[in-house]
Amino acid sequence: MSLTVVANRVPVRQADDGWETSVGGLTTALLPVLEEKGGTWVGMGEDPELPKRQAYPADNPDFLVRRVPLSSQELDGYYYGMANQILWPLSHYLIQHLNLDDTFIETYRQVNERFAEAVLSETEKGDGDVIWIQDYHQMLSPGLIRQERPEATIGHFWHIPWPAMEIFRILPWSRELLRGMLGCDLIGFHVQEYVDNFIESADVLLGAEVDGQRVRYDGQETRVEAHPIGIDVNRFKEMSRDASIIQEAQKFRERLGSDHIVIGIDRLDYTKGIRARMLAFEAFLEENPEYHGNVSFFQIATPSRTELESYQQIRREVDEVVGRINGRFARDSWVPVNYRYRTYTQYELCAFYRAADAALITPLRDGMNVVTQEFVTASQDGVLVLSELTGAAYLLPEAVQVNPYDHGGVADAIRTALEMPTGEREERLAGLKDTIETLDVHNWAGNFLDSIREDGRVKRDA
Ligand code: F6P
Repeated sequence: MSLTVVANRVPVRQADDGWETSVGGLTTALLPVLEEKGGTWVGMGEDPELPKRQAYPADNPDFLVRRVPLSSQELDGYYYGMANQILWPLSHYLIQHLNLDDTFIETYRQVNERFAEAVLSETEKGDGDVIWIQDYHQMLSPGLIRQERPEATIGHFWHIPWPAMEIFRILPWSRELLRGMLGCDLIGFHVQEYVDNFIESADVLLGAEVDGQRVRYDGQETRVEAHPIGIDVNRFKEMSRDASIIQEAQKFRERLGSDHIVIGIDRLDYTKGIRARMLAFEAFLEENPEYHGNVSFFQIATPSRTELESYQQIRREVDEVVGRINGRFARDSWVPVNYRYRTYTQYELCAFYRAADAALITPLRDGMNVVTQEFVTASQDGVLVLSELTGAAYLLPEAVQVNPYDHGGVADAIRTALEMPTGEREERLAGLKDTIETLDVHNWAGNFLDSIREDGRVKRDA
């Protein structure tokens, strides 16, 4: 039985000397399955020069990369428009960023149709294979594939929060999008809250029949389950134990020259709460003058979706608040906030994780947040300060949990983290590490696929 993955981005990219697989959670999770069983990965082709069908690796192919070439107008409407100016802010409860432009849904429909056609042309009827669709870019393709292939086994994993029904229903096309999703046999979310929100949306907005975690609508039964994603734990363990990483971490501490180091590592996205975090650090410095000169905040913001005005705006806001804090508090030999707007490799990040006394991971809303898991895996004695508005917070009670909108509360948590007794640090970190081991990304893919295969077997036997 082989696998057809449908995701917005394909898992390979051009390197200086040929092609390589991209680094990322989804690629790490799904490539071993494709390599073992064979299959196809369908994703967008942003550049018309790239091949539509590419066997990978070229010399001894394990799987097929199938690109759906998009024009710049299609990319604007489907990706920058519907996905990133409608579904993204809505799902993160940041509706001030919503841009309900009608042309976005029109293009989104067309592009989902083209993805569905690509899947249909690359798969055989009735072969019992699994079609596994990823994320908010593809809400309509499950329904479109189902129309042509009633017997297919179709799954979907939604990687961001599913909002409360009252928020989801703001969308003028909420019912159409839900119907598309209900073409699936199995829909996965990170945590039970999003499962419950989805089921309530189907119940209230479509009048679907609900039986526990099963939703029946228009002759199709869909199971909805929580499958929290993890990271490649062994890889992060090995990287963080590497002698050169240990050395880098040491050098980094020396360079910053402070007794205490706090880190923040995010994509530069308005959901990540970077500005609010900086305001909390400013409040901490105001309230705790004894820490002036001996605590450094190291914030990395990775450039992301830079074409969009809302991302340019948050960049300006973060620049401004960092400048203000440093202008107010810096001394000759001390800069309170060290800010980097650039991309680092996972390997390089491990040195920062290892060096930090505390990590502040305080998104305003986040489906899971895998940086949390990377930090916990790489850290030897650090404290995790975590937003209670992340999926990860449900799984990690040993973190110091904060409301990211409460600057005073986050400022207090910074102090708590820096002054936490060694025994308590160790105990909390050990508990966090235990949970993260169980979440390993390979288990995530395996558990989802086991669940959907079981479903397929029951369907065929019926
Ligand atoms: O977390 C949701 C997600 O879409 C991921 O799938 C992706 O890696 C990340 O956000 C970055 O987004 P983009 O693909 O839009 O750059």
